[in-house]
Amino acid sequence: MPDIPLASAARTLSRRLDELGRVSDERGKLTRTFLSPAMRRANARVSGWMRAAGMKVREDGVGNLIGRLEGSAPEGRDRHGRGKTFLLGSHLDTVRDAGRFDGALGVLLAIEAVAELRRRRVGLPFAIEILGFSEEEGVRFSSAYLGSKGYCGLLTSADLGRRDPRGISVREAIGAALGGPFKIPGRAHSPSDLLGYLEVHIEQGPVLEARARPTGVVTGIAGQTRARIAFEGRAGHAGTTPMGLRRDALAGAAEFVLAAEALALAGAPLVATVGGMAVAPGAANVVPGRAEFPLDIRHPRDAGRRAALRSLRAAGREIARRRGLKFSFTVTQDNAAVACSRRLTAVLERSVRARQGRCPALASGAGHDAVVLSELTPVAMLFVRCRGGVSHHPGEHVGRRDLATALRIVVDFLGRLASGRQIP
Ligand code: HGY
Ligand code: MN
Ligand code: MN
Repeated sequence: MPDIPLASAARTLSRRLDELGRVSDERGKLTRTFLSPAMRRANARVSGWMRAAGMKVREDGVGNLIGRLEGSAPEGRDRHGRGKTFLLGSHLDTVRDAGRFDGALGVLLAIEAVAELRRRRVGLPFAIEILGFSEEEGVRFSSAYLGSKGYCGLLTSADLGRRDPRGISVREAIGAALGGPFKIPGRAHSPSDLLGYLEVHIEQGPVLEARARPTGVVTGIAGQTRARIAFEGRAGHAGTTPMGLRRDALAGAAEFVLAAEALALAGAPLVATVGGMAVAPGAANVVPGRAEFPLDIRHPRDAGRRAALRSLRAAGREIARRRGLKFSFTVTQDNAAVACSRRLTAVLERSVRARQGRCPALASGAGHDAVVLSELTPVAMLFVRCRGGVSHHPGEHVGRRDLATALRIVVDFLGRLASGRQIP
């Protein structure tokens, strides 16, 4: 496919990323959580861009946005993948005080790539579905991937029963935002209907910058476990409760946090994070009676992650015994490590080489919707360099030229799939 400069498409993409980055639930910062008012506005904005690219747009039962463009070749399945569907996408929700590229890049770049193929009058012999997942970060319900699990028919009643800090369940949140009686959605496609899934995402790390390359292909995605942990002690007067008689829940939690950090420091590539802490009653002159917090554990090998979880459960029990506390460790999310499809990634790699020369291959420490889609169809991921590897932060940034390179690669990739030589 001729290498038509994509400067104007990259400008459009950059402008839309900026625009969507201002659709937020919080003034002065970017925060969009599951089915929030800002997520509803984001879906409306992205729907318009999908329609402008010639796609039919719908929203499914968990708020995922789905743009579909039918194949231009006659129906009938053949080695060109006719009658099948290729999926692209990522998530439209964000963490708190987020950057504007995490998630949104994968959705908006896919839309621009489809628009570019139409501008070039390149017909695809298979359908394209672009997915804007409604929840990947797990901010509201401490359990990630609610959107892509809904799309893949993998939501469980446990997922739907999870409650946010205000005590609202996932099921209630869906009913309130989307209306109508809610039933667990079945999967959107059967595996035999699909050719694969490509997710374009910022790297959220330093490797591509260090390798001075705009993009790279992803070999696999680390396994991830999230848990809610609580230490329960006894609240007491800060001035009259002798140190030796205290049941200080926060001191116990602090010891646990340091134990998790020490375990990860000694066990790389293991990573362990405690992202916050709720302390009760939370007054300066009261010995804390309760401390509750989320734990995020990741490792590229499942055995390494499971060993870390066993060690941390044991550490928690020991701290609680020694300090006279109660200890609870409730897993809220558990995802095995996922290998990307070698065959689909080989096609992507050819496009990367054709458009940027050398092609780095790297593992992902971050979780992505591709983890869930891998249960339904072969997945591939294209990482895009982000400045300083900064992410989950308003300083997140991708340069315009790298946007253009990534766009060129995805247009080339879809062209290769369309040529039929490369149907994996
Ligand atoms: O947490 C993650 O790895 C991703 O950003 N959801
Ligand atoms: Mn993220
Ligand atoms: Mn993401």
